[in-house]
Amino acid sequence: MCGIIACRTPVPALEFLLPGLRRLEYRGYDSAGVAVHTTTGAIARLRAVGRIETLQKRLPGWAGPDLDGVGIGHTRWATHGAVTEQNAHPHNDCSGRISLVHNGIIDNAGELRAELAAAGHVFESVVDSEVIAHLVEDRFDELGDLRAAVRAALTRLRGSWALAVLQGTTGRLVVAAHRSPLVVARGEHGDFAASDPAAITEWVEHLRVLRDGDVVELADEHRWSGLEAPLAAPPAVPCTWSAETVQLGDYRDFMAKEIDQQPQVAARILDELGPGIVDGAVWTGLGLPPLRRIHMLACGTSLHAGQVIAGLLRRVGGIPVTLSVASEVDEEILEADTLTVAISQSGETADVLRAVEGSSAASGSPLLALTNNPHSTLARRADAVLSCSAGPEIAVAATKTFLSQVLTGVGVALSGLVACGRLDTTRARALVTELDALPDRLATAALTANQLLPTLAAELTQASGFLFLARGTGLPYAAEGALKLKELTYRWAQSYPAGELKHGPLALVEAGTPVIVIDDGDPRMPGNLAAVQARGARMISIGGPGCAVPVILPRATAGPPPWGPLETVVPLQVLARTLALALGRDIDKPRNLAKSVTVE
Ligand code: M6R
Repeated sequence: MCGIIACRTPVPALEFLLPGLRRLEYRGYDSAGVAVHTTTGAIARLRAVGRIETLQKRLPGWAGPDLDGVGIGHTRWATHGAVTEQNAHPHNDCSGRISLVHNGIIDNAGELRAELAAAGHVFESVVDSEVIAHLVEDRFDELGDLRAAVRAALTRLRGSWALAVLQGTTGRLVVAAHRSPLVVARGEHGDFAASDPAAITEWVEHLRVLRDGDVVELADEHRWSGLEAPLAAPPAVPCTWSAETVQLGDYRDFMAKEIDQQPQVAARILDELGPGIVDGAVWTGLGLPPLRRIHMLACGTSLHAGQVIAGLLRRVGGIPVTLSVASEVDEEILEADTLTVAISQSGETADVLRAVEGSSAASGSPLLALTNNPHSTLARRADAVLSCSAGPEIAVAATKTFLSQVLTGVGVALSGLVACGRLDTTRARALVTELDALPDRLATAALTANQLLPTLAAELTQASGFLFLARGTGLPYAAEGALKLKELTYRWAQSYPAGELKHGPLALVEAGTPVIVIDDGDPRMPGNLAAVQARGARMISIGGPGCAVPVILPRATAGPPPWGPLETVVPLQVLARTLALALGRDIDKPRNLAKSVTVE
């Protein structure tokens, strides 16, 4: 939820810390700060509430000694403590000789704080991370070596961390990770560490992903160890995200770019998966047991993608699938032969990671991870990983990653059904042919949406609440449309099965209430809508010919495909974005949110 970066370069560290922080800002944007080693062996710490721009404006005011090439930076999404400069990272020890940035949660921060305070340490903030700076100081006073002090301090912590520690007197830089992502890399400009490869992708070609418990000193040689003893470094992996993929280009915002990229993303995924669907090879390549029953876990948009995939598995293959909101998974009881499928764009969502521990690990059920981050904590814990290949998604609102989760999930589900004999190859081939038409259908949907929605959205700026209705395969899309609208516009939005309306929610409808309908041609829908129209609702139907936003082109076969009206997600995304623009909202960084939610 926060972002961290560290660098050790021959040129001024701010030349890397600031652009890196800007690329990390989508991870949290309540406050930001840097600590940079100075030529006199001190640490210059600069912090600001708000965005990176505010921090940047403060920098010319620095009147202390010259800053050199070693530094750390942080952008915060507040969990412990209010959004204030005192609570912003970096956090210092008592003497200001040690400075630290941290992502994660320290579960035993309260008891450690009490112990350290009793020993005379003075705290500046209420943030759990500050405890680590004082613990390192405490250990350093005894051990006299930064790396040893960091390792010793970490043995006292319970919780999760990705952190970087800078020492003023020596300019040494030590990073560590445990249940929170961190990568290190060396490139022609120097050494880097970051919680997200996007921050440093411009400067490095390969990176190494820290394992739980790893500690690394960024020195002339990168010195790797665990908490107890030296360790070999993990293999370097190519940094697959090019600098261009994390830049806006000609777009106004990343959400616009990412909505636009969806036809290409769909084409790429279908090219990769297509041949292995019909012969079951996508599934068999995962090395998992035959498909019998499935338990899916996810949150937010990923949960909606899970609903689409679960519906297809039930509908096409008769596979029993349960789907849990990851934060509530304690309620589930798993049967034998259950495969756990965790869906998470980031692969770092704390609710998902905890659910996986409580469900898959406890029951011995194999775990399949569907994620856009194959280096993530979730991917490292899984028995098999399916990469969603959406490329970096910078806007906080998930768009192309939803599409990629749906298509990758649909592809592996169909392949699994073929492999276990629940889907014959003729039908599988017909379904793949239909899937292959999706990139064009999505492109057409985008054209239609961009033509029609600005006018429609302009009429809706005064509406305080929105209903989203659908039936059957359209329900996950209605839920996704309502989530996007809430997230982007800060207006109330609720999705319902259209048939459920008469059982209560119809009371919300009055003249002018916006009702967005995902109409996939279900014959019961007109009856449901008549009741809404009779009460004067402002109805906007998204569906086939005759709808206000006609994005579902006719198909050769009757009824919706087993993945439902996927094309409708495009106008739903465009509606949320267009309305948010009209309301003057921050499209890529909606209030109170962050891209990757690493707290439960
Ligand atoms: O990284 P994940 O897919 O696990 O994230 C889950 C949700 O936090 C995420 O989908 C969230 O709902 C999106 N911001 C919605 O646009």
